[in-house]
Amino acid sequence: MGKIKTIGILTSGGDSPGMNAAIRAVTRAGIYNGFRIKGIYRGFDGLINGEIKEFSTEDVSGIITRGGTILKSARSKEFMTVEGRQKAYETCLKEEIDALIVIGGNGSLTGAREFAMEHDFPCIGMPGTIDNDLYGTDATIGYDTTMNTIMECVDRIRDTANSHERIFFVEVMGRDAGFLAQNCAIACGAEAAIVPEEATDVDQLAAFMGRGIRKSKKSCIVIVSESPKCGAMYYADRVKQEFPGFDVRVSILGHLQRGGSPSARDRILASCMGVGAIEAIMQGQRNVMIGVRNNDIVYVPFSECIRTDKVFDKRLITVLDELSI
Ligand code: F6P
Repeated sequence: MGKIKTIGILTSGGDSPGMNAAIRAVTRAGIYNGFRIKGIYRGFDGLINGEIKEFSTEDVSGIITRGGTILKSARSKEFMTVEGRQKAYETCLKEEIDALIVIGGNGSLTGAREFAMEHDFPCIGMPGTIDNDLYGTDATIGYDTTMNTIMECVDRIRDTANSHERIFFVEVMGRDAGFLAQNCAIACGAEAAIVPEEATDVDQLAAFMGRGIRKSKKSCIVIVSESPKCGAMYYADRVKQEFPGFDVRVSILGHLQRGGSPSARDRILASCMGVGAIEAIMQGQRNVMIGVRNNDIVYVPFSECIRTDKVFDKRLITVLDELSI
């Protein structure tokens, strides 16, 4: 592979607040350091179909404040196939793209890794997902904003829960990880969190809720991490059946969690990671994700960051437990 002159950038998978700040940072830092930057629309599908536009610094003006992604996003089925990735490679040759920066979550970085290995192509990942489930980074772009959005929603739910002395099961996103649910439960002063990393049975939950609601509290909030089989509805129904004395309601926050203007923390994270991604290319790094650990930018090999066992800090369970009495 010769000298890298042109870098393609795309966003893939579920969008997250701060992706635009990341696009801006890569574009500006890239141009500053003498690269041409090409924006690829609609994730890997756009790479396959050649939906590409060269970016100037003006193309990314005014986007740091905006949620979503100006490049649009997709979960490409075609890119999961060898043929799809071959077409994507041909687009790179045609467009003279010498390296790719992929902003996305686990699935997107898995795709980037396959592509990089098959075609010996330099790819750099940036962790863009609200779920914070990528290994090797303390935070992902969008996680902080989403926690703040959830917190604001739950604060409002608390008002009505207090007025009616009700129990609310509030379902939040997170795919297979409980980071959003556990941390938001602490931030909202919730009574309990149900996360995939920890088994919760209904009796345990009822005892826990009763402890709060019968003593000093006027309401009870349980944050539930989404799950196709046992989400907020499941727990609410079980509690209603087994403990009819409780007045139970459910609130599923859904996609409102993914929108909105990014927080200061996410804008700064995305900006530093964008500069870090260009530095990685200049240093000759290949097939790594830009992460942040203890406030330092780090490079995490793709094979590590897509591991599915990112450590869930069990101390957070104790914090919530002790503070919700
Ligand atoms: O990965 C981000 C995420 O928002 C998950 O938390 C959630 O499970 C999923 O995407 C929802 O995806 P979609 O937008 O396709 O419904």
